[in-house]
Amino acid sequence: MCGIVGYIGNKKAYPILIKGLSRLEYRGYDSAGIALLQANDIVNVFKKEGKVIDLTEFIGNANTEGTVGIGHTRWATHGEPNNVNAHPHTSGDGTLTLVHNGIIENYDVLKKELIKRGHTFKSETDTEVLVHLIEEIKKNSGVSLVEAIRIALNEVHGAYAIVVISAEEPNKIIAAKKSSPLVIGMGEDEYYLASDATPIIEYTKNVVYLEDEQIAIIDRNNGLRIISISNTEVSPYVQELEMQLEELEKGGFEHFMLKEIYEQPRAIHDSFRGRLNAKEGWVSLGGIKAYEDKIAKANRIIIIACGTSWHAGLVAEYYFEDLARIPVEVEYASEFRYRNPIIHKDDVVIAISQSGETADTLAALEMAKAQGAILLGIVNVVGSTISRVTDAGSYTHAGPEIGVASTKAFTTQLTVLAMMALAIGKKRGTITDEKFQLLLDEMEALPAKIEQLLKNADYIETVSAKYKDAQNALYLGRGSSFPIALEGALKLKEISYIHAEGYPAAEMKHGPIALIDENMPVFVIATHGDNYEKLVSNIQEVKARKGKIIAIVTEGDTNVKELADYVIEIPDAHEFVVPILATIPLQLISYYIAVMRGCNVDQPRNLAKSVTVE
Ligand code: M6R
Repeated sequence: MCGIVGYIGNKKAYPILIKGLSRLEYRGYDSAGIALLQANDIVNVFKKEGKVIDLTEFIGNANTEGTVGIGHTRWATHGEPNNVNAHPHTSGDGTLTLVHNGIIENYDVLKKELIKRGHTFKSETDTEVLVHLIEEIKKNSGVSLVEAIRIALNEVHGAYAIVVISAEEPNKIIAAKKSSPLVIGMGEDEYYLASDATPIIEYTKNVVYLEDEQIAIIDRNNGLRIISISNTEVSPYVQELEMQLEELEKGGFEHFMLKEIYEQPRAIHDSFRGRLNAKEGWVSLGGIKAYEDKIAKANRIIIIACGTSWHAGLVAEYYFEDLARIPVEVEYASEFRYRNPIIHKDDVVIAISQSGETADTLAALEMAKAQGAILLGIVNVVGSTISRVTDAGSYTHAGPEIGVASTKAFTTQLTVLAMMALAIGKKRGTITDEKFQLLLDEMEALPAKIEQLLKNADYIETVSAKYKDAQNALYLGRGSSFPIALEGALKLKEISYIHAEGYPAAEMKHGPIALIDENMPVFVIATHGDNYEKLVSNIQEVKARKGKIIAIVTEGDTNVKELADYVIEIPDAHEFVVPILATIPLQLISYYIAVMRGCNVDQPRNLAKSVTVE
């Protein structure tokens, strides 16, 4: 988490840094700060608890001159969010200023040692320890700033993306990374640094993604040089960004989340464009083509992910087992990495991640890699770390997702997973030609069906209003709609702060049924399919205990309509694509309830979009 930015060039740095921080605010927003190197070689630091807007108000008309600067928007790990713990942090003598994203795990040991050597600390952060460590090495060993940074980074354990400026070297900006992302934008005699490309895109499309354990030295006069922390020269690899600036704006919507919900027909279409053609009867994912044989022969597929991406993995278990007849295990990356899992060389490990930077997912991948498994990634952010460490994979092509709540990222993950299961099922001969064709048709029909569903948003808003004051909510589903119940519950709790639980509908009677009374809204995915009759029985059980039933049903349904307090219809569709369709009304319900409760839907409390700490 945390977003970092930097600039060195001929323009005034301040507006570039502030705008960049606003773009990165989804990564953390409990405090923000900037440091500007002024012409008289003084570093001016401004820090403020709260959002970037609070920082700009705090700065007001203060002197913001300077063409070199760094900035940070924080998601607190070490030390509560306040003005002192906010970044940037400064060395004891005030010459060095640093922003950091990540965690220095051995900061405590280093801090004690530095205190013995006379250092005093103002904040509770691990970051302040790092800037003091660099200062200590520089002074003690008489080495250059770059060398001091290099030595210091060899002493720290953990994750970092850092950007450093020095009052003594005003024409330089130095950055480094390990396990936290950092991108360098290459302009005309100017350079931009950021945690991702979103602050850079409006200035240049040419970027260098810094790799782990690399240090970038940017000199106003000599340009960019990269070395490794073991001190070998690295040639910068310049790539061109595909992202468009408009994708980062709200485009007339009140919130990014709503915009991203409405983008789903387009996003899903982009996800299967060139990869699936129902008319011609084929599906082909270019990114995994070279590995298709190995996947088809896999003994087992292990899916690792966190949060919403983990829910996508749970749906994929139904897809792969049904269509490709390969056993699937779906694991929370954070748990998987800390047990001693049995991984074979012919296991295929699929990591699912919107950001491609989630620390636990990355660590779980590294572990599977060390044991020889084939690694695939299903990632949204192009060029992200997971997309680079995996052997192969498929981008979801959802486009930038700014709202912290995952919406289009999730439905495009499901789209890619569905295509992958179809492709592998076809290869293994475990799916009939008729079913294969039917499911291709169903996939291709999705964007139009979602468009149709979104036309019902006003009604969904009206239904949502009835439950805006609920204190708890239950979500029920069966089969591949069970993970959608989990996802509906997660969406509601993360943005509206209403306690919600997702359950397989039949499990309700083993405990949660005790919670049901006239105040409990129960959202049930009760669409037509194999489990329909059983779901109707589950709805009866809720009704008998006076629970309020809001059912997602197939259009034209009459049985559930008689039982439920409200029904929300989705277009008629095969069970295979229902998880994607049924997700949309649940997203809208969470969105409307959160807005009605006055919550900040795009930046819910305590959360961050990209969880780069474990
Ligand atoms: O970037 P990732 O998909 O790896 O992120 C995983 C979770 O942090 C993420 O899905 C989170 O649960 C979302 N806030 C849910 O809306």
